[in-house]
Amino acid sequence: MIYREVVVMKRILTVNAKVGMVIAGDIYTDAGLLVVPKGTILDKGVIEGIKSYSVYDFFIEEEPKKTISYDIDELDRLMLEDDGTSTGYYDKIKATEEFHKFEAQFVESVKNVEDNINNIVKMNNPVCVEDLLSTVKKITDKFKPDVTLFDMLHCIEGYDDSTYIHSLNVALICRVTGEWLKMSQADLDVLTVAGLLHDIGKVMISDDIIKKPGKLTPTEYAIVQSHTVHGYNILKNQPIDDRIKQAALMHHERCDGKGYPNKYKHEEIDLFARIVAIADVYDAMTSNRVYRSAICPFNVISTFEESVDLFDPKFLYVFLEKIAHSYVNNEVVLNDELEGTVVMINKYALAKPGVLVGGAYIDLSRQDKLKITAIK
Ligand SMILES: [Fe+2]
Repeated sequence: MIYREVVVMKRILTVNAKVGMVIAGDIYTDAGLLVVPKGTILDKGVIEGIKSYSVYDFFIEEEPKKTISYDIDELDRLMLEDDGTSTGYYDKIKATEEFHKFEAQFVESVKNVEDNINNIVKMNNPVCVEDLLSTVKKITDKFKPDVTLFDMLHCIEGYDDSTYIHSLNVALICRVTGEWLKMSQADLDVLTVAGLLHDIGKVMISDDIIKKPGKLTPTEYAIVQSHTVHGYNILKNQPIDDRIKQAALMHHERCDGKGYPNKYKHEEIDLFARIVAIADVYDAMTSNRVYRSAICPFNVISTFEESVDLFDPKFLYVFLEKIAHSYVNNEVVLNDELEGTVVMINKYALAKPGVLVGGAYIDLSRQDKLKITAIK
């Protein structure tokens, strides 16, 4: 289980300070002198002290700490709470001409994926790698394969939350990731098809279970887990690269040995399955699912950073760094509702960049309680 702390902070003017409020961050004078440490509960004397140093404003804890928890391995069926901050960033993308073209191509490609997968599973047709690849390349040839593409995937909504959409998303995310990893063209193609077919075993499982909102019973969860073995069995006799078969079998294995179906660790997990695992979880967290709202990319990065034991760090770090860097110069909303601009990525804390807020530079990595909740 992963535990996350959600602290609601609020900036107040010193003139509005009241006895009993809790200081949420160290208060310094302009000269850098510590006036009051964080955690201090205000009384009359402390308030007078703050005023005497001409401190204009400071942060207080608005509510007591609360904790939410979730299991990373069940991410795609739990309602991850966003902080409720709406964002105009995705609305702006949805309004662009490019997004409309992307959406039209995406819908066409999803139909191709559905036909292809059904032909393989139900008609027992051979996997046509060229056809599958062309479905994905129709998108990546027209639209720049970078984080912008991830953002556009995030904006696709109003369609059935199907395995086919998820499969195409993961294939696209895998292809972009493979390019960031500077893979050869041949490997890129194999990784793309591995992403496209990773969940093919889900076609064997009832929609009542696959699309059930909320938590599954242990029996239902075991049935869902079996999609990995079903997928491998569907593909094992197909004349395709073995890494595609292994990705279907192993994409839910985790480097700490707590995944499924075989509880493999680190190098026991096929290299491509380790990449598909990252793309799979990223899509589960960021796509607009029917049973929860989508979440902020910096929250996603933060969740991955808290889960480093589960994924291969040499792939995960490149993936997260590229995503974080793509939001430099973007306006963001912080959890205290202040707004700022991302100006510097901290490679040791990718979810906590340097942000300019009203002309002041805030290094979020040095602020326990401040975080980005939305791209603006
Ligand atoms: Fe899966």
